[in-house]
Amino acid sequence: MTARLVLRNASELCVPEPDGREIQRLPRHALYAEDGVIRWVGPEDQLPPESRGAEVVDAQGGAVLPGLIDAHTHLVFAGDRVSDFSLRARGESYSSILAQGGGIYTTVNATRSAGFGELLDLTRKRLVSRVSRGITTTEIKSGYGLTAAHELRMLEVVKALRGEGFDVEGTLLAAHVIPKDIPREDYLRSITHEMIPKVAQEGLARFVDVFVEANAYTAAEAERIFSAATEHGLLPRVHAEQITNSGGCLVAARLGASSADHLERASDADLAALARAGTVGVFLPGAMTFLGDHAPHLGLAARKAGLEVCVATDQNPGSSPLSCLATAAMLAVTQMGLTVEESLRAITLGAAHALRRTDIGTLEVGRKARFVVLSHPDSRALIYGFSEPPILRVVGA
Ligand code: NIG
Ligand code: FE
Repeated sequence: MTARLVLRNASELCVPEPDGREIQRLPRHALYAEDGVIRWVGPEDQLPPESRGAEVVDAQGGAVLPGLIDAHTHLVFAGDRVSDFSLRARGESYSSILAQGGGIYTTVNATRSAGFGELLDLTRKRLVSRVSRGITTTEIKSGYGLTAAHELRMLEVVKALRGEGFDVEGTLLAAHVIPKDIPREDYLRSITHEMIPKVAQEGLARFVDVFVEANAYTAAEAERIFSAATEHGLLPRVHAEQITNSGGCLVAARLGASSADHLERASDADLAALARAGTVGVFLPGAMTFLGDHAPHLGLAARKAGLEVCVATDQNPGSSPLSCLATAAMLAVTQMGLTVEESLRAITLGAAHALRRTDIGTLEVGRKARFVVLSHPDSRALIYGFSEPPILRVVGA
């Protein structure tokens, strides 16, 4: 039997502009879905006859948005970095803590020591709380393993959670920092000749990411890694120009990466190159704010460059212990210069484009009937609250 669903009594549907930068707020619109796929969207007083008798979702006068997509997280990890936070408050920098063997290395040690079941439980708990905040798709990177076995184990956790029904996307970020216990060249070879082929063969991830930064990987190393990724049908993405301008954007553009993320130190030429390549720019205001950094110009610069924008939480224990995508979207407005409407598009359709997904991200015929009903009639209220998005219910997750 076909499962049929009709959404009624919405004050408005928030529909991201497919080609523009903002959102449309369609008043008194309804939608009809069969088997989890949207079949009709339009004014409620024109609902088609086939919607009669379908299960009714009553929005109770609230606004309805597409399920939110968090396109950049490091959600599989054990331990925390409370001590780093305290050290930074006393004047140490993120980079100096990393250079002394702390920072990301602290999380690598904790994550390597945790059992598979423990990592699975920790990550599942994080995903469950995300759904209650309207996040129905989450991308998750490896990067706290730094050996082939440990990196692949992180992606096995993601795969197991996909098997449980969570909509999760895996990304191999073996090139996060340089391992302490393996020579650099050996590790690079292991990424290109061992991990990438295995990830592709076993369907463990669709993306390969590299942290291009002064005390992480060079742009030339990223190019090597991305060439191997592309050969195996995996899509490149990059952590680019976060702390220093290190050439990540230009490599991303040259190799047609799906996204370039962070961008605090990106130049106008970098942003223009990304825009020309169809690479999405991912803003991570949680990391920027938590590290005390500033890039108030970035929204305007992206707009001028014609760069499509996504906003993500970057949830991780070091630079961004942030699990609420609505809060990230608010910070992208107040700290990075996006408009409210741009930011709403950035956590829905912009994020779907960053993940190269065509089945989610907006409310149109053919996409999944997956949406967030607010207890407020204005969709923009989703990101107006500082920490408590006014969510009535989440459907189709
Ligand atoms: O996106 N910048 C590098 N990687 C992560 C941080 C990971 C961590 O500090 O544990 C980021 O901010
Ligand atoms: Fe990150």
